[in-house]
Amino acid sequence: MTSQAKKRVLSGITATGSLHIGNYIGAISQWVDNQAEYENFLFVADLHALTIPEAIVGKNLRARVEEIFALYLACGIDPERSTLFVQSDVVEHAELGWLMTCVTPVSWLERMTQFKTKGKVADVDSGVGAGLLCYPSLQAADILLYDPDLVPVGEDQKQHVEITRDIAKRFNAMFGETFKVPDVVIRQSGGRIMGLDDPTAKMSKSTAERSPGHAIGLLDPLDKSRKAIMRAVTDSNSGVDFSNELAPGVTNLLTIFECFTATTREQSREQFDGAGYGTLKSAVADVVTDKLAEIQSRFHDIADDRDTLNKQLARGAERARAIASTKLAQAYRATGLRQ
Ligand code: ADP
Ligand code: TRP
Repeated sequence: MTSQAKKRVLSGITATGSLHIGNYIGAISQWVDNQAEYENFLFVADLHALTIPEAIVGKNLRARVEEIFALYLACGIDPERSTLFVQSDVVEHAELGWLMTCVTPVSWLERMTQFKTKGKVADVDSGVGAGLLCYPSLQAADILLYDPDLVPVGEDQKQHVEITRDIAKRFNAMFGETFKVPDVVIRQSGGRIMGLDDPTAKMSKSTAERSPGHAIGLLDPLDKSRKAIMRAVTDSNSGVDFSNELAPGVTNLLTIFECFTATTREQSREQFDGAGYGTLKSAVADVVTDKLAEIQSRFHDIADDRDTLNKQLARGAERARAIASTKLAQAYRATGLRQ
């Protein structure tokens, strides 16, 4: 297949908190797996991080952003094959973000689940920034700047890709055909990894900061990760029994195991039916800590080589800008602001 015939992919992760295995399974591993097949544009969403000031104030955000960039590389994103960049290094995101904000009805933004939940936490009346409301219109700009065919994300981001599709259609209807309407891609299994301490709640960066046994961070010490898995909530039974409905915590452990070993539920059934929970947890801890060890060793080499990292940051931004600036100019022309 020539590179022109390849489908284009765009995705990113907000730079708040440390990445966990949910981010790896739901998002990053999909990007790594499809590098040969697709033309990837992957980025660190640092402008989006500003919408949650309490997550970033006083925390040296740029260092965090570069840590995530290095982690993408350590997880196996190949900067030769994928264009990897930081959102704020490509100014076109903020510019197109404004155009998108102007065509997005406020009522669409107010209906978004993330705004309703994070807005409540931050308490809209106490002065939360308008960026939290406009988060999806900036995300639409991130996506539409690159004319991607596919946006691979975890399940919680589905609504953001759906609103992007609606915004693209609305812009096209108002100003003429300008943007491609992309499709969302979610893993069949692993699109929503649950918290180890509470299998009814999605594993998330913000909860991980409050509850130590909730998530496994990609940079967490291996012994801490093993302990968190061994303590994961299951149910009051003693072992895995496929003839009954499995508890959510057991299903979650099986899903993690299958995603890390590329095996199916059928194979898990053969391996774990009748096994004690201790056996299942040990097996999950083994595969997870093996993967973390590999990622962490690469991460330290990458983070230690500042010169190469700086070059990769600059090169990724330049490659992204080449595409983004053409699209932004097209959008400006469509609105009539430019000839
Ligand atoms: P978080 O909710 O932990 O802050 P983000 O919202 O920044 O994570 O998500 C980054 C990417 O990782 C998105 O594609 C998101 O859908 C995916 N993701 C986040 N949490 C999970 C999870 N628990 N399971 C699967 N995918 C996830
Ligand atoms: N909202 C995504 C998250 O929470 C990050 C993100 C920003 C994104 N822009 C995007 C994801 C565009 C996919 C496509 O992690």
